[in-house]
Amino acid sequence: MSTEAKIDAHWGKGGLAEAILAALKTAGCDPDNLAPEDLLPLEHLHGRGADATRELLEILSPGPDTHLLDIGSGVGGPARMAAHLYGAHVTGIDLTQEFCDVAQMLCQRVGLSDLVTIRQGNALDLPFANESFDGAYSQNVSMNIEDKEAFYAEAFRVVRPGGLFVAAEYAEGPGGAPVFPVPWALVPEHSHLLKPDDIPRTLEAVGFEIVDCTDQSDSMIESYQRGREKIAAEGKPVLGPHLLMGDDGPERRRNSARSVEEKRTIPVQVVCRRV
Ligand SMILES: C[S@@+](CC[C@H](N)C(=O)[O-])C[C@H]1O[C@@H](n2cnc3c(N)ncnc32)[C@H](O)[C@@H]1O
Repeated sequence: MSTEAKIDAHWGKGGLAEAILAALKTAGCDPDNLAPEDLLPLEHLHGRGADATRELLEILSPGPDTHLLDIGSGVGGPARMAAHLYGAHVTGIDLTQEFCDVAQMLCQRVGLSDLVTIRQGNALDLPFANESFDGAYSQNVSMNIEDKEAFYAEAFRVVRPGGLFVAAEYAEGPGGAPVFPVPWALVPEHSHLLKPDDIPRTLEAVGFEIVDCTDQSDSMIESYQRGREKIAAEGKPVLGPHLLMGDDGPERRRNSARSVEEKRTIPVQVVCRRV
Protein backbone atom coordinates (compact mmCIF):
# COMPACT_ATOMS: atom_id res chain seq x y z
CA MET A 1 0.00 0.00 0.00
CA SER A 2 1.37 3.47 -0.89
CA THR A 3 1.99 6.03 1.86
CA GLU A 4 -0.93 8.08 0.48
CA ALA A 5 -3.29 5.08 0.62
CA LYS A 6 -2.15 4.30 4.18
CA ILE A 7 -2.93 7.85 5.33
CA ASP A 8 -6.31 7.77 3.60
CA ALA A 9 -7.11 4.41 5.22
CA HIS A 10 -5.89 5.63 8.62
CA TRP A 11 -8.21 8.66 8.73
CA GLY A 12 -11.10 7.59 6.50
CA LYS A 13 -13.09 4.87 8.24
CA GLY A 14 -16.38 5.11 6.31
CA GLY A 15 -19.77 6.21 7.63
CA LEU A 16 -18.45 9.49 9.01
CA ALA A 17 -21.10 11.78 7.51
CA GLU A 18 -23.89 9.64 8.95
CA ALA A 19 -22.16 9.44 12.36
CA ILE A 20 -21.73 13.23 12.54
CA LEU A 21 -25.31 14.00 11.50
CA ALA A 22 -26.68 11.44 13.97
CA ALA A 23 -24.56 12.89 16.79
CA LEU A 24 -25.67 16.44 15.96
CA LYS A 25 -29.29 15.29 16.17
CA THR A 26 -28.66 13.58 19.52
CA ALA A 27 -27.07 16.81 20.76
CA GLY A 28 -30.27 18.69 19.92
CA CYS A 29 -29.18 20.33 16.63
CA ASP A 30 -31.27 20.20 13.47
CA PRO A 31 -28.96 18.75 10.77
CA ASP A 32 -31.02 20.58 8.12
CA ASN A 33 -30.64 23.93 9.82
CA LEU A 34 -27.12 24.08 11.20
CA ALA A 35 -25.17 27.16 12.24
CA PRO A 36 -21.36 27.19 11.95
CA GLU A 37 -21.15 27.26 15.77
CA ASP A 38 -23.00 23.93 16.06
CA LEU A 39 -19.99 22.17 14.53
CA LEU A 40 -17.31 23.75 16.73
CA PRO A 41 -16.99 20.90 19.27
CA LEU A 42 -16.28 18.23 16.66
CA GLU A 43 -14.62 19.75 13.59
CA HIS A 44 -11.15 20.78 14.89
CA LEU A 45 -8.99 17.67 14.90
CA HIS A 46 -6.09 18.86 17.06
CA GLY A 47 -5.32 19.64 20.70
CA ARG A 48 -7.27 22.58 22.18
CA GLY A 49 -9.73 22.32 19.28
CA ALA A 50 -11.48 25.51 18.22
CA ASP A 51 -9.54 27.64 20.73
CA ALA A 52 -6.24 26.75 19.07
CA THR A 53 -7.65 27.54 15.62
CA ARG A 54 -9.06 30.87 16.80
CA GLU A 55 -5.63 31.90 18.12
CA LEU A 56 -3.87 30.74 14.96
CA LEU A 57 -6.28 32.72 12.77
CA GLU A 58 -5.73 35.84 14.89
CA ILE A 59 -2.09 35.66 13.83
CA LEU A 60 -3.05 35.52 10.16
CA SER A 61 -5.87 38.08 10.59
CA PRO A 62 -7.24 37.52 7.10
CA GLY A 63 -9.47 40.12 5.46
CA PRO A 64 -12.42 39.41 3.16
CA ASP A 65 -10.11 39.66 0.13
CA THR A 66 -7.59 37.24 1.58
CA HIS A 67 -7.19 33.77 0.12
CA LEU A 68 -5.75 31.26 2.60
CA LEU A 69 -4.63 27.69 2.09
CA ASP A 70 -5.34 25.10 4.80
CA ILE A 71 -2.90 22.24 4.23
CA GLY A 72 -4.36 19.00 5.59
CA SER A 73 -7.77 20.54 6.17
CA GLY A 74 -9.45 17.51 7.76
CA VAL A 75 -13.24 17.93 7.87
CA GLY A 76 -12.83 21.66 7.24
CA GLY A 77 -13.44 23.14 10.70
CA PRO A 78 -10.51 25.58 10.65
CA ALA A 79 -11.30 26.66 7.07
CA ARG A 80 -14.93 27.30 7.98
CA MET A 81 -13.85 29.31 11.02
CA ALA A 82 -11.64 31.56 8.85
CA ALA A 83 -14.52 32.05 6.43
CA HIS A 84 -17.17 32.60 9.11
CA LEU A 85 -15.20 34.91 11.44
CA TYR A 86 -13.18 36.84 8.85
CA GLY A 87 -15.08 36.42 5.57
CA ALA A 88 -11.84 35.05 4.12
CA HIS A 89 -11.68 32.76 1.10
CA VAL A 90 -10.09 29.46 2.07
CA THR A 91 -8.99 26.49 0.04
CA GLY A 92 -8.51 23.31 2.02
CA ILE A 93 -6.57 20.36 0.70
CA ASP A 94 -6.48 16.93 2.31
CA LEU A 95 -5.37 13.46 1.30
CA THR A 96 -8.30 11.67 2.95
CA GLN A 97 -11.19 11.51 0.50
CA GLU A 98 -13.81 10.88 3.17
CA PHE A 99 -12.71 13.95 5.16
CA CYS A 100 -12.94 16.05 1.97
CA ASP A 101 -16.45 14.75 1.26
CA VAL A 102 -17.57 15.46 4.83
CA ALA A 103 -15.91 18.89 4.77
CA GLN A 104 -17.85 19.82 1.63
CA MET A 105 -21.11 18.50 3.04
CA LEU A 106 -20.66 20.51 6.26
CA CYS A 107 -19.74 23.68 4.33
CA GLN A 108 -22.97 23.35 2.35
CA ARG A 109 -25.04 22.76 5.46
CA VAL A 110 -23.76 25.89 7.20
CA GLY A 111 -23.83 28.05 4.05
CA LEU A 112 -20.08 28.56 3.67
CA SER A 113 -19.52 26.82 0.33
CA ASP A 114 -19.05 30.14 -1.46
CA LEU A 115 -16.02 30.95 0.68
CA VAL A 116 -14.52 27.51 1.32
CA THR A 117 -13.26 25.22 -1.45
CA ILE A 118 -12.10 21.72 -0.58
CA ARG A 119 -9.81 19.63 -2.78
CA GLN A 120 -8.48 16.14 -2.35
CA GLY A 121 -4.72 16.08 -2.85
CA ASN A 122 -1.27 15.63 -1.41
CA ALA A 123 0.52 18.33 0.60
CA LEU A 124 3.76 17.09 -0.98
CA ASP A 125 2.53 17.94 -4.48
CA LEU A 126 0.12 20.85 -4.11
CA PRO A 127 -1.99 21.36 -7.24
CA PHE A 128 -1.62 25.15 -7.10
CA ALA A 129 0.45 27.74 -8.95
CA ASN A 130 3.44 29.41 -7.31
CA GLU A 131 2.57 32.33 -5.00
CA SER A 132 -1.18 31.79 -5.34
CA PHE A 133 -2.17 32.28 -1.66
CA ASP A 134 -1.93 35.25 0.70
CA GLY A 135 -1.14 32.94 3.58
CA ALA A 136 -1.31 29.32 4.67
CA TYR A 137 -1.48 27.18 7.76
CA SER A 138 -1.29 23.54 8.72
CA GLN A 139 -2.46 22.01 11.97
CA ASN A 140 -1.31 18.55 13.09
CA VAL A 141 -0.57 17.24 9.62
CA SER A 142 3.20 16.90 9.32
CA MET A 143 3.38 14.06 11.86
CA ASN A 144 2.13 11.84 9.02
CA ILE A 145 4.87 13.11 6.70
CA GLU A 146 8.46 11.87 6.74
CA ASP A 147 9.88 14.36 4.22
CA LYS A 148 9.33 17.59 6.17
CA GLU A 149 11.52 19.61 3.86
CA ALA A 150 9.33 18.71 0.86
CA PHE A 151 6.22 19.52 2.92
CA TYR A 152 7.47 22.97 3.99
CA ALA A 153 8.93 23.69 0.53
CA GLU A 154 5.49 23.19 -1.04
CA ALA A 155 3.95 25.62 1.47
CA PHE A 156 6.70 28.12 0.67
CA ARG A 157 6.13 27.74 -3.07
CA VAL A 158 2.41 28.54 -3.01
CA VAL A 159 2.47 31.47 -0.53
CA ARG A 160 3.06 34.92 -2.02
CA PRO A 161 6.15 36.89 -0.91
CA GLY A 162 5.38 38.60 2.39
CA GLY A 163 2.67 36.06 3.25
CA LEU A 164 2.65 34.06 6.50
CA PHE A 165 2.67 30.31 7.01
CA VAL A 166 1.74 28.94 10.43
CA ALA A 167 2.81 25.37 11.18
CA ALA A 168 1.28 23.78 14.29
CA GLU A 169 2.53 20.27 14.94
CA TYR A 170 3.99 17.87 17.48
CA ALA A 171 7.73 17.58 17.93
CA GLU A 172 9.70 14.80 19.57
CA GLY A 173 10.10 15.40 23.32
CA PRO A 174 12.82 14.24 25.72
CA GLY A 175 10.46 11.91 27.63
CA GLY A 176 10.67 8.92 25.28
CA ALA A 177 8.52 7.70 22.40
CA PRO A 178 4.85 8.76 22.20
CA VAL A 179 2.39 6.35 23.79
CA PHE A 180 0.83 4.52 20.83
CA PRO A 181 -1.72 4.53 19.35
CA VAL A 182 -1.91 8.32 19.00
CA PRO A 183 -4.44 10.10 16.77
CA TRP A 184 -2.02 10.32 13.83
CA ALA A 185 -0.44 6.85 14.05
CA LEU A 186 -1.26 3.43 15.43
CA VAL A 187 2.38 2.31 15.37
CA PRO A 188 5.76 4.08 15.62
CA GLU A 189 6.59 3.45 11.94
CA HIS A 190 3.82 5.83 10.86
CA SER A 191 4.79 8.69 13.17
CA HIS A 192 7.35 11.23 11.94
CA LEU A 193 8.40 13.84 14.48
CA LEU A 194 11.26 16.34 14.35
CA LYS A 195 13.09 17.63 17.39
CA PRO A 196 11.61 21.03 18.40
CA ASP A 197 14.55 23.09 17.12
CA ASP A 198 14.59 21.23 13.83
CA ILE A 199 11.12 22.53 12.90
CA PRO A 200 12.13 26.23 12.55
CA ARG A 201 15.53 25.13 11.20
CA THR A 202 13.89 23.15 8.39
CA LEU A 203 11.43 25.96 7.66
CA GLU A 204 14.37 28.34 7.35
CA ALA A 205 16.18 25.87 5.11
CA VAL A 206 13.36 26.06 2.54
CA GLY A 207 13.42 29.88 2.60
CA PHE A 208 11.02 31.04 5.32
CA GLU A 209 11.94 33.72 7.84
CA ILE A 210 10.91 32.71 11.38
CA VAL A 211 8.61 35.24 13.05
CA ASP A 212 7.74 33.30 16.19
CA CYS A 213 8.12 29.80 17.62
CA THR A 214 6.22 28.70 20.71
CA ASP A 215 6.08 25.57 22.84
CA GLN A 216 2.37 25.18 23.59
CA SER A 217 2.70 22.38 26.14
CA ASP A 218 1.40 24.38 29.12
CA SER A 219 -1.83 25.55 27.51
CA MET A 220 -2.36 22.09 26.04
CA ILE A 221 -1.91 20.38 29.43
CA GLU A 222 -4.31 22.87 31.08
CA SER A 223 -6.87 22.14 28.40
CA TYR A 224 -6.55 18.36 28.89
CA GLN A 225 -7.12 18.87 32.63
CA ARG A 226 -10.19 21.04 32.01
CA GLY A 227 -11.52 18.41 29.58
CA ARG A 228 -11.14 15.64 32.16
CA GLU A 229 -12.90 17.74 34.82
CA LYS A 230 -15.76 18.47 32.43
CA ILE A 231 -16.20 14.78 31.63
CA ALA A 232 -16.11 13.90 35.34
CA ALA A 233 -18.85 16.48 36.00
CA GLU A 234 -21.03 16.07 32.91
CA GLY A 235 -20.17 12.68 31.39
CA LYS A 236 -18.77 12.04 27.93
CA PRO A 237 -19.86 14.63 25.36
CA VAL A 238 -21.95 13.57 22.38
CA LEU A 239 -20.08 15.94 20.07
CA GLY A 240 -16.30 15.87 19.95
CA PRO A 241 -13.35 15.10 17.71
CA HIS A 242 -13.61 11.47 18.88
CA LEU A 243 -16.34 11.17 16.22
CA LEU A 244 -13.67 11.59 13.52
CA MET A 245 -11.41 8.85 14.84
CA GLY A 246 -13.43 5.65 15.05
CA ASP A 247 -13.80 3.29 17.99
CA ASP A 248 -10.30 3.69 19.36
CA GLY A 249 -10.56 7.51 19.23
CA PRO A 250 -10.85 7.95 23.02
CA GLU A 251 -7.77 5.79 23.66
CA ARG A 252 -5.76 7.62 20.99
CA ARG A 253 -6.74 10.99 22.45
CA ARG A 254 -5.85 9.85 25.99
CA ASN A 255 -2.47 8.68 24.74
CA SER A 256 -1.89 11.98 22.97
CA ALA A 257 -2.59 13.86 26.21
CA ARG A 258 -0.33 11.54 28.18
CA SER A 259 2.43 11.95 25.61
CA VAL A 260 2.35 15.75 26.03
CA GLU A 261 2.07 15.53 29.82
CA GLU A 262 5.07 13.19 30.00
CA LYS A 263 7.07 15.38 27.58
CA ARG A 264 7.20 12.59 25.01
CA THR A 265 5.76 15.02 22.49
CA ILE A 266 5.88 18.81 22.39
CA PRO A 267 3.19 20.84 20.62
CA VAL A 268 5.01 23.54 18.70
CA GLN A 269 3.60 26.42 16.66
CA VAL A 270 5.89 28.22 14.25
CA VAL A 271 4.88 31.43 12.48
CA CYS A 272 7.02 32.17 9.46
CA ARG A 273 7.06 34.59 6.56
CA ARG A 274 7.86 34.00 2.94
CA VAL A 275 10.50 36.57 2.11
C1 LIG B 1 -5.00 15.36 12.74
S1 LIG B 1 -5.79 15.65 11.22
C2 LIG B 1 -5.88 17.43 11.27
C3 LIG B 1 -6.96 17.99 10.35
C4 LIG B 1 -7.09 19.51 10.41
N1 LIG B 1 -5.84 20.16 10.11
C5 LIG B 1 -7.56 19.97 11.75
O1 LIG B 1 -6.72 20.41 12.55
O2 LIG B 1 -8.77 19.85 12.03
C6 LIG B 1 -4.49 15.37 10.04
C7 LIG B 1 -4.94 15.52 8.61
O3 LIG B 1 -3.80 15.56 7.75
C8 LIG B 1 -4.14 14.91 6.55
N2 LIG B 1 -2.90 14.56 5.85
C9 LIG B 1 -1.90 13.76 6.29
N3 LIG B 1 -0.92 13.68 5.38
C10 LIG B 1 -1.30 14.45 4.33
C11 LIG B 1 -0.72 14.77 3.07
N4 LIG B 1 0.46 14.28 2.70
N5 LIG B 1 -1.39 15.62 2.26
C12 LIG B 1 -2.59 16.13 2.61
N6 LIG B 1 -3.19 15.84 3.78
C13 LIG B 1 -2.57 15.02 4.64
C14 LIG B 1 -4.98 13.74 6.99
O4 LIG B 1 -5.74 13.23 5.94
C15 LIG B 1 -5.81 14.37 8.09
O5 LIG B 1 -6.99 14.92 7.60
